[in-house]
Amino acid sequence: MMQKILVTGATGNVGQEVVRLLLLQNCHVYAAVRNPPSDKQILGSDVECIPFDFTNPDTFTEAFKEVNKLFLVRPPALANVRQQIAPALNAAKLAGIEHIVFLSLLGAERNSFVPHSKIERYIEQLGVPATFLRCSFFMQNLNTTHCEDIKTRGELLMPAGNGKTSFIDVRDIAAVAVRTLIEDGHQSRAYALTGKEALTYYEVANILTSVLGKQIHYNPSLLKFVQQTRSSGLPMDFILVMIAIYTTARLGLAGTITSDTEQLLNRSPMTIRQYVEDYAEFWL
Ligand SMILES: NC(=O)c1ccc[n+]([C@@H]2O[C@H](COP(=O)([O-])OP(=O)(O)OC[C@H]3O[C@@H](n4cnc5c(N)ncnc54)[C@H](OP(=O)(O)O)[C@@H]3O)[C@@H](O)[C@H]2O)c1
Repeated sequence: MMQKILVTGATGNVGQEVVRLLLLQNCHVYAAVRNPPSDKQILGSDVECIPFDFTNPDTFTEAFKEVNKLFLVRPPALANVRQQIAPALNAAKLAGIEHIVFLSLLGAERNSFVPHSKIERYIEQLGVPATFLRCSFFMQNLNTTHCEDIKTRGELLMPAGNGKTSFIDVRDIAAVAVRTLIEDGHQSRAYALTGKEALTYYEVANILTSVLGKQIHYNPSLLKFVQQTRSSGLPMDFILVMIAIYTTARLGLAGTITSDTEQLLNRSPMTIRQYVEDYAEFWL
């Protein structure tokens, strides 16, 4: 039977790449998006877009009607799992979804307070077969959240001290996601996805400097981070989440390296240097 797969977060970092890779497979892909006409322009005219909003139950029946698998991305702004994510999961179960692949967070199984942990437990409770992709910190945060700092001030600004992070490229996460969606044998499994190396932000700044040919320095000041993020208009709750994430790195808790990515891809995960070379135009 041909797989029919609904991809949530389809315009985001990981979802966009998952859609692109699924289009190369023998399956039917549906991009679950909030604004089909404009999102089709982002995703390409060959992508079938279905209206879907986690916060609008009227969109659920149609979105889940044709599909048997779900790639689940929790939008970062939706932190209340019971109110904002669970209703869509209930609808997915009712519609007969057979497998959910969920983009989770490294260590979610140990941090019951993060939304990803609550979502994992909710899916288990629903009894829908699932695969949890517990991912380390995305390399692509550098060309999204931190892009302007790097580009305009030559500065990597984050309060991560001298701690190491096992960055992963979202292209590797998407490749793993596609494999686990298409192949049998990944149900009831959780994978800890990291890159192959753990680096400090001093080391990342050196790689940016060497590849971009312009000086990029790392500034670990918490005070400057708060001032800068506040003045750029980011909401305080988002800033606090970022501080918590960088504190994890500062305390040396973000450097775990696993072999899951390599085993699932049958190749080495991408390196930060490779990522910076591929994305150089973002910072020049
Ligand atoms: N960044 C990291 O280092 C990291 C590491 C591990 C795990 N994660 C997790 O990865 C997830 C984010 O993945 P990402 O970076 O690929 O996403 P992203 O680039 O932040 O994009 C968010 C996606 O969610 C969609 N969305 C927002 N609100 C929605 C709603 N109400 N209903 C339906 N869709 C909605 C957005 O669509 P629109 O285009 O309509 O806005 C967009 O496609 C988060 O759960 C995060 O915690 C992140």
